Amino acid sequence: MSVKEEVLKMLEENKGIHMSGEEIAKILGVSRNAVWKAVKSLTNDGYEISGINKKGYCLINNNDILSIQGINKYLVEPVKDIVDLELYKVIDSTNTKLKEEATANEAEWKIVIAEEQTKGKGRMNRQFYSPAKTGIYMSILLRPTVPSDEALFITTMAAVSVAEAIEKVTGIKTQIKWVNDIYCNNKKVCGILTEAALNIENSQLDYAVLGIGVNIKQPENNFPNELKDIATSIIDGQDTTIENLRCKITAEIISNVYKYYQELSSHQFMDEYKKRSMLIGKEVYIVGDNNKEALKVLSIDEHAGLVVEHKNGETETLSSGEVSVKPL
Ligand code: BTN
Repeated sequence: MSVKEEVLKMLEENKGIHMSGEEIAKILGVSRNAVWKAVKSLTNDGYEISGINKKGYCLINNNDILSIQGINKYLVEPVKDIVDLELYKVIDSTNTKLKEEATANEAEWKIVIAEEQTKGKGRMNRQFYSPAKTGIYMSILLRPTVPSDEALFITTMAAVSVAEAIEKVTGIKTQIKWVNDIYCNNKKVCGILTEAALNIENSQLDYAVLGIGVNIKQPENNFPNELKDIATSIIDGQDTTIENLRCKITAEIISNVYKYYQELSSHQFMDEYKKRSMLIGKEVYIVGDNNKEALKVLSIDEHAGLVVEHKNGETETLSSGEVSVKPL
């Protein structure tokens, strides 16, 4: 552990209590100057640390700083040792960055996380709104040894991973909208974009970059008008009841993805995926389809396809694309 990590750990363990630089230095066996530098660096990262002359340093409660140390705190082995986390304050897109690294032979389980994205990518060439400090924008590099037609299951296992993580940390109910959106209270809180490269020689994926964007808190300037009716955040306003919320949810998502990735070829997570599906029994419309027919959703099949019924009674299985519950 670096001096910075040790100082943070000590301040976290003594939240609300002032500890002098001298005291911390003595316990850690480092100089007072090293402690001062560590505190300065933590403050630069966004930690609120009160420094009172003669009394020392004290970590202010309810920090929600996204940091590698903070995420690591909630990870357990073997995941903790396997993942390689990289954090950016601002980046264009974590998916774009990780795809570059994947092409340059970066190993599986490299994870790029950002506080803010300037060109967050969504499905169907849309932008993913990624303002600072209120969300989690993360991409995970995977090199699955499954046939390329199994790629869709990377997205479905990620959807289950996120839905369960949100529920475990916050207690808030989540549902999955086929194929890869997570909803709370009938509005979208998370989108998933998996980008992959095919190895033609063996028909397997060379890599998959699993991109996950979660709206945790309400953005400072709220959602833009075009998103207000369809997107929301998990936590209303700036509620800070759950400490280290973003670190906790990030770690829980990573742990779940790791767990379900081991079951990728057996698709065991599909039972949970189906249980959480918010579309079964509903009428939906295919996004981008000129034929505005309402289709009734019957089920989700074993290939993660959406089985729908046309007005004339014929059934069809949709294997990709997007559906909307409201007419467009
Ligand atoms: C969608 O809802 O259309 C998918 C959104 C995926 C957004 C995430 S945020 C992290 C990663 N980096 C990106 O540029 N996009 C994904």
